Amino acid sequence: MNAITQAVPFPLQTVFYRGLTQSLKHVGKVIGLFVRPPEMFTGPGASLLLGDAIAGSGVKRLLIVTDAQLAKLGLVQPLQDHLTELGVFVAVYDGVLPDPGVEQIEEGLRVLQQERCEAVLAIGGGSAMDCAKLIATRATNPSKSVLEMAGFFKVPTAPLPIYCVPTTAGTGSEVSVGAVVSDPAQQRKLPVIDHKLVPAMAALDGQLMLGLPPAITAATAMDALTHAVEAYISRIATPESDRYALEAVSLIMRHLPRVMKDGRDLNSRQLMAWAAYRAGLALSRGGLGYVHGIAHNFGALYHTPHGWANAIVLPYVLEYSKSDCIPRLAELARASGLASGTESDAELADKFIQRIHTLKQECGIPAGLADLRAEDIPQIAAAALQEAHFTYAVPRYMDQKTCEGLVRRMLVRASSGVR
Ligand SMILES: NC(=O)c1ccc[n+]([C@@H]2O[C@H](COP(=O)([O-])OP(=O)(O)OC[C@H]3O[C@@H](n4cnc5c(N)ncnc54)[C@H](O)[C@@H]3O)[C@@H](O)[C@H]2O)c1
Ligand SMILES: [Fe+2]
Repeated sequence: MNAITQAVPFPLQTVFYRGLTQSLKHVGKVIGLFVRPPEMFTGPGASLLLGDAIAGSGVKRLLIVTDAQLAKLGLVQPLQDHLTELGVFVAVYDGVLPDPGVEQIEEGLRVLQQERCEAVLAIGGGSAMDCAKLIATRATNPSKSVLEMAGFFKVPTAPLPIYCVPTTAGTGSEVSVGAVVSDPAQQRKLPVIDHKLVPAMAALDGQLMLGLPPAITAATAMDALTHAVEAYISRIATPESDRYALEAVSLIMRHLPRVMKDGRDLNSRQLMAWAAYRAGLALSRGGLGYVHGIAHNFGALYHTPHGWANAIVLPYVLEYSKSDCIPRLAELARASGLASGTESDAELADKFIQRIHTLKQECGIPAGLADLRAEDIPQIAAAALQEAHFTYAVPRYMDQKTCEGLVRRMLVRASSGVR
């Protein structure tokens, strides 16, 4: 895309890009046709009901994929014990680190093979869920490396059955068609996107999120918010993805401030889990945008937590995109309860973006990224555009120079841009 458009004047690039995004509609349609949402269990204690369903489905040997921190916090043991009582043999791989790489996937795969497991259960955030999805995928595709399966529809054989218990309300990986893998050698993060990666069953259990620290609560919620917003302003949004996105935005705007104030508010925790799930459904149909393109590269270069990176980038990309999606942003403002009934759409679009700035402040998320180095900006912009221009149907096209200028606004030491 960049090579095609480099010789074309900037205003024409937008027209070019719109034409090309039409082809993404086919991807959206294919995903829409084949996505079979997981069977969901929701409510406090739902994870144990998922255990009943796993045992009831005839699984005899199961691999739990989690991280050591969650195991230490006691979030894994009750479900593990429950499954054992039901006669399921359980092996545990707890080596997942944030933004898992190929090494951890291969390590988990070895445990799965040694213990002859026939299904995989993730208990954790997006990192554990994505790692579990890719372990299950490698198990049935031994001749393909994870990196060879990165991209769209490159998974030849369906993975082993995947079950998910998210412990953060953020990524929506429990329902999404994707899994993200880090490639530290190339300092990049790559999505594996295939409808075969949608889990078979998942449980949204707010009880497991009561102890989520405020910084992780905020960052993961901003990830979910970004999924809903990017899917809603996407050029391939559908009435179905719109419904999910609006529901997610409305819930997050109401309940994020509540869980930030009182992390043990079970009702709001449960509704945040539901919102993240709905945002995951929205992104699986409408896709993502430049926010994720840039945020993935902050993650790859500086290990910025995924949601934190999205939160920093989100308002800047919306300010840039606004001119091409004012009615959509106005609708998001209405869903957020920001409309008094007298404003124009343009005023509401501004109100929505302003609310994201203030929400970030209330959550302790800064306007800029302290780790960002000016000399990295050209590389970040190039990688973000390469990711976005082949994958996302963004409302307003951006070229390299514009993207560099936008990322520069997130430099903490820059006097402009950082509020
Ligand atoms: N597959 C998808 O559709 C998708 C979408 C967005 C992001 N992602 C990926 O997901 C990953 C990020 O996932 P994440 O934001 O959920 O964070 P995470 O899974 O990396 O977890 C962050 C930290 O929170 C801790 N934690 C998780 N649950 C907890 C709980 N209940 N109590 C206390 N601590 C808890 C973990 O131990 C970890 O240290 C990234 O790699 C990102 O690229 C995937
Ligand atoms: Fe995300």
